[in-house]
Amino acid sequence: MKIIVAGTGYVGLVHAAVCSEYGHEVYAYDNDVDKLKAFESAEPREIERYVNEPGLSSIIRETHGKYLFFSSEIEPILEGADAVFFCLPTPPNLDGSTNLSVYFDAAATIAITAARRKDRRRLLFVNKSTVPIGTARSLEEMVRGCEVSNFGVASNPEFLAEGSAVSQARRPDRVVVGCDHDEDFKILRRVYSQFLNHVRIKYIETTPETAEAIKYVANTMLLTYISFWNGVGAKIGEKIPNVRIDDLRLGVTADERISTWGSFVSNGAGGSCFGKDIASLIYQLRRVNVNTKMLEASYEVNEYQKVYLVERAVNEAGFDFNRKTVALLGLAFKGRTNDMRDASSIKVVETLLSKGVSTIKCYDPMANETARRVFDPSKNILFEKVKYYDGALKTIEGSDALFISTDWDEFRGLSATVEKTVSPPYLIIDGRRMIPDFEELVSKGYTYLAVGSMVMKP
Ligand SMILES: NC(=O)c1ccc[n+]([C@@H]2O[C@H](COP(=O)([O-])OP(=O)(O)OC[C@H]3O[C@@H](n4cnc5c(N)ncnc54)[C@H](O)[C@@H]3O)[C@@H](O)[C@H]2O)c1
Repeated sequence: MKIIVAGTGYVGLVHAAVCSEYGHEVYAYDNDVDKLKAFESAEPREIERYVNEPGLSSIIRETHGKYLFFSSEIEPILEGADAVFFCLPTPPNLDGSTNLSVYFDAAATIAITAARRKDRRRLLFVNKSTVPIGTARSLEEMVRGCEVSNFGVASNPEFLAEGSAVSQARRPDRVVVGCDHDEDFKILRRVYSQFLNHVRIKYIETTPETAEAIKYVANTMLLTYISFWNGVGAKIGEKIPNVRIDDLRLGVTADERISTWGSFVSNGAGGSCFGKDIASLIYQLRRVNVNTKMLEASYEVNEYQKVYLVERAVNEAGFDFNRKTVALLGLAFKGRTNDMRDASSIKVVETLLSKGVSTIKCYDPMANETARRVFDPSKNILFEKVKYYDGALKTIEGSDALFISTDWDEFRGLSATVEKTVSPPYLIIDGRRMIPDFEELVSKGYTYLAVGSMVMKP
């Protein structure tokens, strides 16, 4: 199949690479020329500056120039194409609704170009972005308005989780395809032939609206489950003496009807999707007069989790952040990615700055470079207080308190590093419960404050 992938971000680049690996002829199209140059170089460091996913750069090195091509021009690549996958940004507006302006601008450019094609082959416009229910229908009207002949529209939402996007694209849990016509289902069956009649992968064919709804319900269900543990489980462990959160989790999730994923309490779930998708579903449901209290609560618990540990440090551990140096370990919204969109660390930095800290010493195994853009001093002079280090040891050195915000494996068991580097009194704020032997530290005079447990003082 000849496939165009419009938008080479986390979703588009992975989709393009994995489709090329399966032998399709793939043209990845983007309007960011610098990004495309980096991908064309096939240099891991260059690719990872934009999309850092395990295994991705080696596929690009293997297939670039044979099955995978990059272009910032749509016209030369559209002739003879079977499908165009839209993997474009759909950010939130201030009221929670989804901003579709970039999406429809890019789609219109492609549709206008498609109307000038010489070939009469059916061209399928496939949406992979997360878009409000009913968008495929609007896309169809827009493409028809551009007088494109012989086209179809499909909804094919993306479910990848950053950090394991390549392995999930190679072997997804499910492929969801929403179309109105048999011939369009057939095109996507050919694109995804490796996933058909698979013993483990669910291949679901449905209406475009159902496919769009599946994506929203899946994401809001996941965030609601995380918020349940953070809003109920963690709070029981923090407020009621002698409750051990880890045992609570084990006991509850021993029931096979209750998932383990999402039951690990934390200082909130970030990423480009959870927050904006739940806000968008709330907006969509309010418009049809559905009560959205449950979704609002999930959203609010998650936002509260991102900041409340700093407040607990003040109120429960009696720590005064004014003029203190805080070491912040972990900036990415989760381990194994350099993505900081909606990361808890952003809220942590803002809250610490509002408490008057003198310096925030940061380290993340992948996201230091991303953080320099996020905490740009030209946007906010206070970001000059944010400094970057290479490694946990150098970051902790000379600090008055430590905040762990991301679940990187290398932060597990930091106690030896803490003992070697800083002396008590010293406060450790653990947003991911990364230090299992905290009792040892407390016995040596350190104060330990973790999500899900009462503050532990020497
Ligand atoms: N990142 C995830 O984990 C994830 C998972 C599932 C679904 N999604 C959804 O997929 C969509 C894309 O997400 P993403 O994280 O890949 O976004 P992204 O911001 O990483 O990538 C979007 C890409 O589109 C390009 N682009 C913007 N305007 C363009 C234009 N006019 N023409 C061509 N290219 C253009 C950008 O340069 C960028 O490379 C969103 O709707 C998102 O909600 C994301």
